[in-house]
Amino acid sequence: MKPLELLQELRRRDRVFPFIDEAPPPHPRLDTRHGPILYVEGITKSFDGFKALDDLTLYVGDGELRCLIGPNGAGKTTLMDVITGKTQPDTGHAWFGQRLNLLRMNEHDIAQAGIGRKFQKPTVYENLTVHENLELAMHAHRGLMTSLFWRLDGEQRDRVDEILELIGLKEEGHRAAGLLSHGQKQWLEVGSLLMQNPRLLLVDEPVAGMTPAETEATAELLVSLAGKHSVVVVEHDMEFVRSIARTVTVLHQGSVLAEGTMDQVQNDPKVREVYLGEEA
Ligand SMILES: Nc1ncnc2c1ncn2[C@@H]1O[C@H](COP(=O)(O)OP(=O)(O)OP(=O)(O)O)[C@@H](O)[C@H]1O
Ligand SMILES: [Mg+2]
Repeated sequence: MKPLELLQELRRRDRVFPFIDEAPPPHPRLDTRHGPILYVEGITKSFDGFKALDDLTLYVGDGELRCLIGPNGAGKTTLMDVITGKTQPDTGHAWFGQRLNLLRMNEHDIAQAGIGRKFQKPTVYENLTVHENLELAMHAHRGLMTSLFWRLDGEQRDRVDEILELIGLKEEGHRAAGLLSHGQKQWLEVGSLLMQNPRLLLVDEPVAGMTPAETEATAELLVSLAGKHSVVVVEHDMEFVRSIARTVTVLHQGSVLAEGTMDQVQNDPKVREVYLGEEA
């Protein structure tokens, strides 16, 4: 990449890429021996008197794939904002494992401790190749300039190849990310997050705007991540949720309305009422 293109790329970016250290080892204080990796207890967050989150309590097990559903404005994205340190709640507790108090950490420290977040809109470096995007994610803490000219060692090259395979972009490694389809960009962003080896991955509406085939591939990808990573997926596409769901949590007006298998929540009268005329 020529320096001019690089500068253009830097100027083009609409948000700061999360500059966090390369594949960090598990945080020394991350303790999941007692089960959950995420504890959210009694969280309330008001915006001008409106409770976006209202005494919300939720636990996510280590290695779990959890789906979070609920109507527009239920508080799903706000919950992710609280977990990632973007929003400070008014009351409540949020812990990562037994010992990391998320409410005492900033966004950067939370990312470094092993919580990765995928926003709705894919944010990839369009002028860089798919491979370069992943390299950059691995070396992010070195800064963009250094990262791009850094030579990967064999192990790092293997890691990039492994992620390329996982996200289904092995054949696209040398294409500019800007030429990818919308779905492929979403996978590339998931891949960039995986380069940091997060323990918990938060994914907001991953299949919005995807073709049915892309949606299916995304389901496979997320299912394959569970176990090694804990994953929380927010999605409105009920068919997609059904295809990946183990436990589903239904949010409504900032609190948990129901929790259980997809069948359990879809047959819950409270949930049916909220979704009246919709999918349930
Ligand atoms: N920074 C903010 N300032 C004011 N109100 C906010 C802010 N962030 C969220 N809200 C409000 O909080 C409520 C919950 O919003 P949130 O984005 O968490 O919902 P959501 O469940 O993610 O909805 P969607 O499914 O539409 O994405 C909404 O009424 C929203 O308008
Ligand atoms: Mg949202």
